[in-house]
Amino acid sequence: MSGKVVLVYSGGLDTSICIPMMKEEYGYTEVITVTVDVGQPQADIDQAEEKAKIMKTTHFTVDAKEEFTRDFCFASLKANGEYQGYPMSTSIARPIIAKKAVEIAKKVGATAFAHGCTGKGNDQYRIEYTIRAMMPDAVIHAPIREKNLTRTWEIEYAQKHGVPIQQSLNKIWSIDENLWGRSIEGGRLEEPNFAPPEEIFMWTKSQENASNTRQALTVSFEKGVPVALNGEKMGPSKLVIALNKIAGDNGIGRIDVMEDRMLGLKVRENYECPASTVLLKAHGAIEALVLTRDELRFKKTIDQEWSKLAYEGLWWDPFKDDLEAFINKTQERVTGDVRLSLYKGAVTVTGRESKWALYSEDLASFDTTTFDQRESTGSVKMFGLQARMFLSLQEKLATEKTSK
Ligand code: ARG
Repeated sequence: MSGKVVLVYSGGLDTSICIPMMKEEYGYTEVITVTVDVGQPQADIDQAEEKAKIMKTTHFTVDAKEEFTRDFCFASLKANGEYQGYPMSTSIARPIIAKKAVEIAKKVGATAFAHGCTGKGNDQYRIEYTIRAMMPDAVIHAPIREKNLTRTWEIEYAQKHGVPIQQSLNKIWSIDENLWGRSIEGGRLEEPNFAPPEEIFMWTKSQENASNTRQALTVSFEKGVPVALNGEKMGPSKLVIALNKIAGDNGIGRIDVMEDRMLGLKVRENYECPASTVLLKAHGAIEALVLTRDELRFKKTIDQEWSKLAYEGLWWDPFKDDLEAFINKTQERVTGDVRLSLYKGAVTVTGRESKWALYSEDLASFDTTTFDQRESTGSVKMFGLQARMFLSLQEKLATEKTSK
């Protein structure tokens, strides 16, 4: 044992108490804290750094915003990634957070890890899986789970061990955020019948406070990923940050769900996902224009399988690569513009165009000249042949029976 342990560190209460615990209860001599910036508020990152300094850890903040948006959020967008009706955000951030922690561990020569997950949630699966996938011999500690700790115990422990927790004490809600979405849980929100108070929302305006004028927006896609807003080219994270503001101001992306966690627990969850809600809608609209009927039907199944893997954090599974081979092939044609209208919490598609559009105005129009309607007659006659045969057989057999 090198005496070094890498702590996947957010700066919150759970991960902060892990710092003294790693030394006192687990016998490590050096704690390396790793905070990964996936678009959470700068204040959270600053606070994590400050606390790390006070508690004398070797601290690393890794800015992963661009990589996260490009390789994780946009991969999810191509797969129309969602879980039980919301765009996944927490789940797709865990693989990159754990991956960055492993990279730091390799740099500092550590093979031991710690994280602050409880034994009830999904993150324990996601984080430990990625660490083990990248470093099979890693030793992983999860003190909150292993010692069955409660919040009250943690606060007491923190106070005894000089862990700064003033901010944690004031926190009613448990929040996890990144560029793809913000999740709010805990407190009275745990009661499925308790209406979410306005104060939990930070990214989205209420319908009452949202802009009174309808806002038009054009999103341009190239090979399944957004590249411009209203004609202005933007890199991945910049685009998502800008769109979070635009859509949030229009009250878009508030979602309240009962979620089935991996362990089977049902938990009430609230989400704010302004940019991802708009992008998923726009992406679906352009896919509907360029993909064939069979591609669209089959891709739904592929997308669902992809989403299940992503929800469980199985990011490095070969099955995911297999699914992505199909997804990425289809995305080669997902290029073009989608026009949307944003208003008081609703996002509506108002137009779409693509050089790959499988659409011919002449064929679809009522004034068609090249489509000879008479050609359809024979095909219509044969349509539903087997069902019609069945119905007449049924009738025949029934009359035979009654006449006997
Ligand atoms: N249940 C969601 C998931 O597993 C989000 C959890 C986020 N955590 C939080 N403390 N808000 O992806």
